[in-house]
Amino acid sequence: MKKHIAVLAGDGIGPEITDGAIAVLKKVAEKFGHEFTFEPLLMGGCAIDACGEPLPAKTVERCLASDSVLLGAVGGPKWDTLPGDKRPEKGLLGIRKALGLYSNIRPAKLWKALADASPLKKQLVENGVEIIVVRELTGGIYFGERGRYEDEALGETAWDTEKYSVTEIRRIAKIACELARKRSGKVISVDKANVLESSRLWRKTVHEYAEENYPDVTVTDMLVDNTAMQIVKNPAQFDVMLTSNMFGDILSDEAAQVTGSIGMLASSSLGDGTRGLYEPIHGSAPDIAGQDVANPIATILSAAMMLRDSFSLTEEYAAIENAIAKVLDEGYRTADIMSEGMTKVGCKEMTRLIAERI
Ligand code: IPM
Ligand code: MG
Repeated sequence: MKKHIAVLAGDGIGPEITDGAIAVLKKVAEKFGHEFTFEPLLMGGCAIDACGEPLPAKTVERCLASDSVLLGAVGGPKWDTLPGDKRPEKGLLGIRKALGLYSNIRPAKLWKALADASPLKKQLVENGVEIIVVRELTGGIYFGERGRYEDEALGETAWDTEKYSVTEIRRIAKIACELARKRSGKVISVDKANVLESSRLWRKTVHEYAEENYPDVTVTDMLVDNTAMQIVKNPAQFDVMLTSNMFGDILSDEAAQVTGSIGMLASSSLGDGTRGLYEPIHGSAPDIAGQDVANPIATILSAAMMLRDSFSLTEEYAAIENAIAKVLDEGYRTADIMSEGMTKVGCKEMTRLIAERI
C-alpha cells in the first residue's frame, strides 16, 4: 500500500515524538511491504515564527492532498501572550475544522504493565479501565461566536457561545453507537441538560437517533459534573463516553490521568472520509523539549490508529500495539512512567526498542 502522510510536528516535544512515530511507521512499511512518504508542514508556534500565522494556507492545502495527517503538539509560553486568533492552538482548531474532522476518539486505557501508575486505589482499577471518549470536535463553544464589550454596569465583559444542531449531534452519536456496537453495547452520553438548552437538544437527539438506528445500543445520560466525579469514583463503569467538544476536552484529560500517564494516550480525529488527523492527547511540554526524555508512545500509538482507522491496516496496528506492550513488559520506561526496578530510557531509545520489536 502506498500512502502519503502529512506531518505537523508542531512545538516543544512535538518534533521528537513525531520523529519516533515516523521511525516506527518506516519499520512497519519495511516489514509489511508498504510505501509511506512523509511531508513535514508548519502548524502552531513554529508556523507563527516562520510565517506569522498559526495555520498557513499551504499547510491546509497539503493536508487536504495527503492520505492522512500525523500531529505532534502545539503551543508554548513563547506564544501565550498573543491574541486569541493568533495563538498556536488556533492552528490546531483550524486544521480540524478545515479537514472536517468532527469525530475525536480518545481511548483512555490502563496498560497492564502500568497498573501501578494510576493515582486511584488499586481496587478501583484492578479489573482494568478503558474509557473511550467520543468527543464532538468541530462544533460547540470552541467554534461559537464570541466577543468582548464594555458593559455599562460591569465594565469589560467577554462572551462565548455554545451551540449545537441536530445534524452535528446525530453524526457524532452515530460514531459512538457504531463503536458501542463493537464493544459493550452501551453509551454514556454526557451533558448539562439540567441547565443548558443546547444540552437538552443534545440529550433528546442522541436518544431519538439511537432508538431509531441502534436499538441494540443502550444510551444512558450523565450530567457532566457527576461524570467528573464518577470517573474517579468508579472508572470501570465507563466504556463509550459521548461528549460535546468542551466536555470531552475536559473529561478526556481526567480519564487520561486515571490511567497513570497522559504520555501513553493516542487519539484519532475523523470526518466523513478516511483522511484523519492522529495526535497524542498530551501537550507540547516545553519544559522538557529537546532533552530526549519525552515519552513517544502516545504518538506512536496515534500512528498505529492511523494505520487501522484511515488505511484499514489492522494487522499492522496490532504489530505496533504488541511491540509497545512487549517493551513495557520488559521493564523499559520513559521518565513520566518510571517506577522502581524498571529501566529508564529516553525518547530515542524507547522508539528504537519499539521499532525493533515490530
Ligand atoms: C486537546 C487540546 C486542544 C483542544 C487545544 C490545544 C486547542 O486541549 O486537543 O485536548 O482543546 O482541543
Ligand atoms: Mg485538551
